[in-house]
Amino acid sequence: MLNWDEYGKEETTIPVTSEPKTEAEVITPTASVEKPEAPQPAVSAVSTEPSNIGEGSRAEAARKAVNNLDETAGNEELDEMMANAGRVQVDQKMMINCKADLNQLVPFKYDWAWQKYLDGSANHWMPQEINMTNDIVLWKSEDGLTEDERVIVKRNLGFFSTADSLVANNLVLALYRLITNPECRQYILRQSLEEAIHTHAYQYCIESLGMDEGEIFNMYREVPCVARKASWGLKYTQEISDPDFKTGTVETDKQLLKNLIAFYCVLEGIFFYCGFTQILSMGRRNKMTGTAEQFQYILRDESMHVNFGIDVINQIKIENPHLWDDQMKADAAQMILEGTELEIQYARDTMPRGVLGMNASMMEEYLKFIANRRLTQLGLDEEFTGVSNPFPWMSEIIDLRKEKNFFETRVTEYQVGGALNWE
Ligand SMILES: [Fe+2]
Ligand SMILES: [Fe+2]
Repeated sequence: MLNWDEYGKEETTIPVTSEPKTEAEVITPTASVEKPEAPQPAVSAVSTEPSNIGEGSRAEAARKAVNNLDETAGNEELDEMMANAGRVQVDQKMMINCKADLNQLVPFKYDWAWQKYLDGSANHWMPQEINMTNDIVLWKSEDGLTEDERVIVKRNLGFFSTADSLVANNLVLALYRLITNPECRQYILRQSLEEAIHTHAYQYCIESLGMDEGEIFNMYREVPCVARKASWGLKYTQEISDPDFKTGTVETDKQLLKNLIAFYCVLEGIFFYCGFTQILSMGRRNKMTGTAEQFQYILRDESMHVNFGIDVINQIKIENPHLWDDQMKADAAQMILEGTELEIQYARDTMPRGVLGMNASMMEEYLKFIANRRLTQLGLDEEFTGVSNPFPWMSEIIDLRKEKNFFETRVTEYQVGGALNWE
């Protein structure tokens, strides 16, 4: 066994060996069984010494290709990024349109982005860790849930099972390329994995409960209140996912900013909240507790996604104040309010009457409360006066104190779910 205390010590134990039995063992060039009598010269990384290993023409072709490797190939792009400088200085780093080398993670400029990557990683979880047995029994029983409760479970699995794919696609196919900062890209990679885990969680629920998968996965096209939310988000991905799309003009930079607002503030920041509240309310009433626990883990991830996105948007505003003009402010507010309206319609559609201690008008007030928060997080005025949070238990679950983003206070309270402790 490898032990760091013994690292560097000369190997003195002769490995137990037996006669090689297979061809693979015969040609394995490792592990001399005898201790050398005199120190051997260090083997250079690329040895040109002939060996007695037989090889075919493919290995010979590979060696020739490596010997003729053009080390400047691919550097054109690097040259452009690095301009005249070799090592990246922190002042060169920018959220968008950065020309510095994006392959150098450090020095960090946005410590909060790296911290969120660490926090997200510490919160790692997998859907199979959650016991779904009670949910399966309840779902399959004749009178375990009311018809209204069943609608809520199905609609939300229908919406979320594709919504997280839309978010993941937007990250990977559109945003990653255009956010020109390596520590933020590191978080985007982490978030992309989390979105895959969320889609997995919904699929795991749908499969465990034995639902009609075709019905659930097609709701985003077939059920109007689900389809409207999906198509509202999709148009913002379409605009910037074209491989020829480039930022660098006021118009295209604003398009990117709108994409960030659409996905982080509206899709993840508003469209998820009616469904989360409904499913978590079910869990509080001891129904569908496995599904509710999946949603609770997802909500913990999502509140960090929202905070990351809001920090990115606010940083872009700081670095590019000309983008945040009156028109852009009005457009941003309009987008948030359109999202709120769509989510209110979703609440009405999924709750035609009171269910689980809530109803559509309570949800409407909650969504207006959330909308005010999203507006102020972007530095815009609140829209709705006199609204309060009718579901204070949701705040306890999310813990709004922890939800504060970098520009309000540093997030230090997340921790430390699955982090290993070596002490
Ligand atoms: Fe997600
Ligand atoms: Fe997310």
